[in-house]
Amino acid sequence: MTLPEMMRAVEISEPGGPEVLKPTHRPVPQPGPGEILIRVRWAGVNRPDALQRAGSYKAPPQASDLPGLEASGEVAAVGPEVSGWSVGDAVCALLPGGGYAEFAVTPAAHALPVPDGMDLREAACLPETFFTVWSNVFQRGGLKAGETFLVHGGSSGIGTTAIQLASHFGARVFATAGTAEKCAACAKLGAKRAINYREEDFVEILRGEGGANLILDMVGGDYITRNVKSLADDGRLVMIAFLQGPKVELNFAQVMLRRLTITGSTLRPQSDFAKARIADSLRDRVWPLLSNGEIAPVMDSEFALEDAAKAHARMESSGHVGKIVLRIS
Ligand SMILES: NC(=O)c1ccc[n+]([C@@H]2O[C@H](COP(=O)([O-])OP(=O)(O)OC[C@H]3O[C@@H](n4cnc5c(N)ncnc54)[C@H](OP(=O)(O)O)[C@@H]3O)[C@@H](O)[C@H]2O)c1
Repeated sequence: MTLPEMMRAVEISEPGGPEVLKPTHRPVPQPGPGEILIRVRWAGVNRPDALQRAGSYKAPPQASDLPGLEASGEVAAVGPEVSGWSVGDAVCALLPGGGYAEFAVTPAAHALPVPDGMDLREAACLPETFFTVWSNVFQRGGLKAGETFLVHGGSSGIGTTAIQLASHFGARVFATAGTAEKCAACAKLGAKRAINYREEDFVEILRGEGGANLILDMVGGDYITRNVKSLADDGRLVMIAFLQGPKVELNFAQVMLRRLTITGSTLRPQSDFAKARIADSLRDRVWPLLSNGEIAPVMDSEFALEDAAKAHARMESSGHVGKIVLRIS
């Protein structure tokens, strides 16, 4: 494959609203040792991209300043010390950044094959949400079959993935969402009970069910104390974002008396090695489920690369259910 010197991309021209996302041209990046270069066909849009655009989530020092944490396409070049990938292979990958562009580099160990029978559009939506959900719900949160699991933001990219995986592995799934339509989508994906948080109190509902063994939360704010009230004895709370803020007054006696665990993580700053271990586990445990169609990403909408601002506006309107993608080439 002959590679061009320059590529189309979308950059964050300054911190701000969706309008600061501007089409540009950049040099095609070169893969270093252990890295592959991907010719990007589709890029997933994630809430952390919007946070980065707004100036509240900085890219790690070595990462591209271009937004975009996941993509699918073909391997366009292979760096030194890479085995298992060849030019032309279909691939989907977690990226350190730089997905809103025609080419992106990433550690080869963070790339996964496109599941059998899945098109590249869907495959672009897998890495960021599946790495996040698998590592937080199953590895950190230790969800087991038969346990009661509550996920907030059930209709989000993260939520739709968490509902499907937790249901598949035998949990009783509860999900919150802000409209009746979103609740119906959560129920269709396998939630035993979808809770419209504008009309119902999730604390009351979970306590009526004996409490949640595990909660995955992205809301924060007053949800933190309400989550603690909703947990069963020995329950675990995993925080992955704070859409309503990270500060709260909490009586920690509950944590001691009911043996609760409060934890959390964010994917992007973790080491390459840690992300590679998540990729290995996903390949073994989850990719077969995607290949046989037992689970699939929920697609909301697609936009051209140059319309990335419209994609962000859609995400921030919270009108979407599932994943938003950019069509690159
Ligand atoms: N820690 C990590 O490594 C990591 C990685 C990826 C994503 N995340 C976080 O996970 C969350 C979901 O990401 P995503 O890409 O799937 O985004 P998304 O699809 O935009 O999901 C955000 C969801 O949050 C709900 N929401 C928004 N504001 C809310 C509020 N004030 N109160 C209650 N619910 C609210 C919305 O649903 P309703 O309309 O129903 O309110 C929406 O479905 C984001 O906060 C993101 O930053 C964390």
